[in-house]
Amino acid sequence: MEKIKDLEGLPGIGPKTAEKLREAGFRTVESIAVASPKELFEIAEIGESSASKIIEAAREAADVGGFLTANELLEKRKFIGRITSGSKRLDELIAGGFESQAIIEAFGEFGSGKSQIGHQLCVNVQLPIEKGGLDAGAIFIDTESTFRPERIIQMAKGVGLDPTEVLSKIRVARAFNSDHQMLLTEKTVDLIEAEKIKLLVVDSLTSSFRSEYVGRGTLAERQQKLARHLRTLHSIASNQDICVFVTNQVSAKPDAFFGDPTRPIGGHILGHSSTIRLYLRKAKGGQRIARLVDSPNLPEGEAIFFVTENGIEDK
Ligand SMILES: Nc1ncnc2c1ncn2[C@@H]1O[C@H](COP(=O)(O)OP(=O)(O)OP(=O)(O)O)[C@@H](O)[C@H]1O
Ligand SMILES: [Mg+2]
Repeated sequence: MEKIKDLEGLPGIGPKTAEKLREAGFRTVESIAVASPKELFEIAEIGESSASKIIEAAREAADVGGFLTANELLEKRKFIGRITSGSKRLDELIAGGFESQAIIEAFGEFGSGKSQIGHQLCVNVQLPIEKGGLDAGAIFIDTESTFRPERIIQMAKGVGLDPTEVLSKIRVARAFNSDHQMLLTEKTVDLIEAEKIKLLVVDSLTSSFRSEYVGRGTLAERQQKLARHLRTLHSIASNQDICVFVTNQVSAKPDAFFGDPTRPIGGHILGHSSTIRLYLRKAKGGQRIARLVDSPNLPEGEAIFFVTENGIEDK
């Protein structure tokens, strides 16, 4: 059987419906496979019974990854690469650095160092393996216009790399809204295939979703969309052996609208890749404190680091 690649290849989806689905962020057969009939009904006015049939067909056609034996999983995990943050203490907190095949979320209030870590990882991923890098490039999806090449130059100098070369190995895209952010994320799949890339930064993961979906009526819709976005990120992390670093601003006073900031956003997520969550906060004397929260296999703990002109450091 030939593999169905486009939405139009699914029974009951014509060009018009496909267009509506794509506009709503369903761009692949895989995304349909994990949708609910109700979602398709609401987005493309497909009757619930046809929606079920479409989803069933998508599930057959989709490459959603089957079951691995636990030893296959262990074998796969041997390839996990680690990127140093520049701070030994922070690296130790997460068992040796920011790892591939995982999504690492940094959440915390403004100025807590989330974007600084994102910048630093874009530099450090380029270091040779013996120096804590993965000898590879980075992609930065910027939703708040916070990416600063000038800052990259400072950090490259800090680790002794040639700034011009470092800049040339970082691909930056500005996302203008949540749909654009999701589209850019899907586009990175091809870029990662074509080039040696080991890091994907999404800074910020949540700001566009937050500003676009105000009011309680749209909360479920937003969570569904965010969950879909996270599924894409997980599949990139897991299938393409990438370290995915995402940021999420939360106020020190828990944000009732967005829910408890220490709970996983977007609900519980599928996939073999793990998720590491770091809660960042500012402390006296320019200290930054990172706390590891609900990790599946690491002990809870805290690490103190600093943001200096050179970048992330122990000082
Ligand atoms: N060149 C530099 N030298 C020293 N410290 C710097 C430098 N650039 C940034 N910082 C520090 O980093 C802080 C900004 O951190 P960052 O941008 O990572 O915050 P954030 O957590 O991303 O916040 P937001 O939620 O607003 O995006 C500054 O307040 C400053 O303390
Ligand atoms: Mg930021």
